[in-house]
Amino acid sequence: MRATRLHKRKLENSGMENQERLLDLALNKYRLSPQVVAAYKKLPRHLFIKRSYSMDEMYGDYPLEIYRDEKYISTISQPSFVMLMIDMLDLKPGHKVLELGAGSGWNAALMGEIVGPAGKVVSVEIIPSLAQETKDNLSFLGIANVEIISGDGATGYPPEAPYDRGIFTAGATDLPKAFHEQIKVGGKLLFVLKTQSIDLLLLLIKKEDHFEELSRLSCSFVPMKGQKAARITNDLDTLRDTQGKLEIYPNFKKEGRDSLFSIT
Ligand SMILES: C[S@@+](CC[C@H](N)C(=O)[O-])C[C@H]1O[C@@H](n2cnc3c(N)ncnc32)[C@H](O)[C@@H]1O
Repeated sequence: MRATRLHKRKLENSGMENQERLLDLALNKYRLSPQVVAAYKKLPRHLFIKRSYSMDEMYGDYPLEIYRDEKYISTISQPSFVMLMIDMLDLKPGHKVLELGAGSGWNAALMGEIVGPAGKVVSVEIIPSLAQETKDNLSFLGIANVEIISGDGATGYPPEAPYDRGIFTAGATDLPKAFHEQIKVGGKLLFVLKTQSIDLLLLLIKKEDHFEELSRLSCSFVPMKGQKAARITNDLDTLRDTQGKLEIYPNFKKEGRDSLFSIT
């Protein structure tokens, strides 16, 4: 049922050439795993965009706005970077994933494809109408292992915890404690940290009482909204000058340490 509907809409929209062109571009930029490439081929991006963009725009390697009002903005992220992020998470079949920021649901669907029927993706979206639209679209496409939750992702989603992986698709100034509580020890989190100068994509590993940085990239994401949408107060300029790795103590103070960040 799912494959038939996807295939039919794929043909109707004849996006194949654009899809392949974009994949070539992504593969020229990054070394991507076969799993991510297979998921990308199965889930054409245009099926997740409900605004009127041309096929060229929907397969351009840049983010597209999919929602805007006085309070909120949402985009479907830059495709090559979405694929890179999913690869960095090192997803395995059977994994359970928590995403903050469902947006179009494309990222969640790609992850759902990789974790397979034995796994699950729970994706939280703060814009209620967008959450509903995305939920309806995933159901139309027959994607059963991705659940869209309407709400503030700062509290995670305890009913499905613990998670093997977590991912932010909006930039935060603080790492919500819920993500530390709900990700398994040894699990990984891709966290987007907004600083005064740049956004950092941090790949973190969960330890008993904190997260440790495994790697980082610069990036650009829409800001996180809701209860943890604090003003940007941290400034990591000095950290970027060092070879140091971050340790992040989410929302709670460790002996003598009242900052979220410290260099090991
Ligand atoms: C870059 S967009 C998401 C891209 C998305 N993953 C996709 O594949 O289309 C970031 C999303 O995060 C949502 N967001 C921002 N703050 C949030 C919060 N506190 N909880 C849940 N979602 C949030 C925004 O409304 C927006 O839809």
